[in-house]
Amino acid sequence: MAYEAEETRYSSMHYNRCGRSGLRLPAISLGLWHNFGGVDSGKTSRAMVLGAFDLGITHFDLANNYGPPAGSAEESFGHILSQDLKSYRDQLVVSTKAGYYMWPGPYGEWGSRKYLVSSLDQSLRRLGLDYVDIFYHHRPDPETPLEETMGALDHIVRNGKALYAGVSNYGPEQLQQAAAILKSLGTPCLIHQPAYNMFNRRPEEGLIQALTTENIGCISFSPLAQGLLTDKYLGGIPEGSRATKPHGALKPAQITEERLAKVRALNQLALARGQTLAQLALVWVLRHPIMTSALIGASKVAQLEDAVGAVNNLSLSAEELQAIEGILQ
Ligand SMILES: NC(=O)c1ccc[n+]([C@@H]2O[C@H](COP(=O)([O-])OP(=O)(O)OC[C@H]3O[C@@H](n4cnc5c(N)ncnc54)[C@H](OP(=O)(O)O)[C@@H]3O)[C@@H](O)[C@H]2O)c1
Repeated sequence: MAYEAEETRYSSMHYNRCGRSGLRLPAISLGLWHNFGGVDSGKTSRAMVLGAFDLGITHFDLANNYGPPAGSAEESFGHILSQDLKSYRDQLVVSTKAGYYMWPGPYGEWGSRKYLVSSLDQSLRRLGLDYVDIFYHHRPDPETPLEETMGALDHIVRNGKALYAGVSNYGPEQLQQAAAILKSLGTPCLIHQPAYNMFNRRPEEGLIQALTTENIGCISFSPLAQGLLTDKYLGGIPEGSRATKPHGALKPAQITEERLAKVRALNQLALARGQTLAQLALVWVLRHPIMTSALIGASKVAQLEDAVGAVNNLSLSAEELQAIEGILQ
């Protein structure tokens, strides 16, 4: 059946300004790292993308290597774009990235101009798009001069193949150097994409401060620690969950009794606030003023509905924050 977007889709989502830019992103964005590849059900992928858009999620995050197989998430999303979302293109923010291994030989990964420009051309073909909204360098390259990598991002934006440039997995100093180079080229760094959640607090060691100082937006990936920060693993590892999939990045060994004890206590705290644990985990990530969006993954539309419910209560009291600290110690 022809898709028509829900008319009320913009009524409850919050759209946060990304740093000092003109772009606003939804407080909750959807990433297509897992569950949108060639190995996954196209019907479910479509239901999730359209369901997300109906809930006000305007931002969809991809990378060249998402699948499996690598590239297939961009193909699946491209299919949904052409079949269902063509007339909504200007209401969507689509991002992709390059940095990890994509093809054999010396030009298929890291941060050379050769790799980044070729990879984005491939991504655009798979997506069936003329441009993406945000193009990221996916991880720092210890060997390529940062001037070359940032020069490639600037070139890509100037050529109209991306509207904005961003970086991912950069440390605070690398981020500041990259931002300074981009600024000197006249293409500002729009956004940084780090991992951040209650179990991974590395961005608190300088990165959030650097982003705040530079006024660069931040979108945190894996805010639910790949599902650990929900109630799903409290009764064991459910069939079909990420931890049971051979290509899933969450391994059963990561679901330790020590972590589950914390998850149980956090779950009680969430319920006392009238929220689910997933919602509390998202509110906790979004508490920093510089945090533009929490970038979730999902395997079901119900998980998206759960996540967007977080925006109904985004405030955390000092006592609640302290209680969370106590649990996470
Ligand atoms: N830049 C980078 O290097 C990088 C790296 C990783 C990810 N990312 C981006 O971040 C996005 C999100 O990463 P992620 O998928 O790890 O995020 P996440 O939100 O931490 O985890 C998503 C998983 O949690 C489970 N889940 C979500 N909502 C739930 C709910 N309400 N109740 C119970 N379980 C729930 C689902 O697992 P089940 O499948 O088990 O149901 C879902 O697949 C990726 O798609 C990608 O766009 C970027």
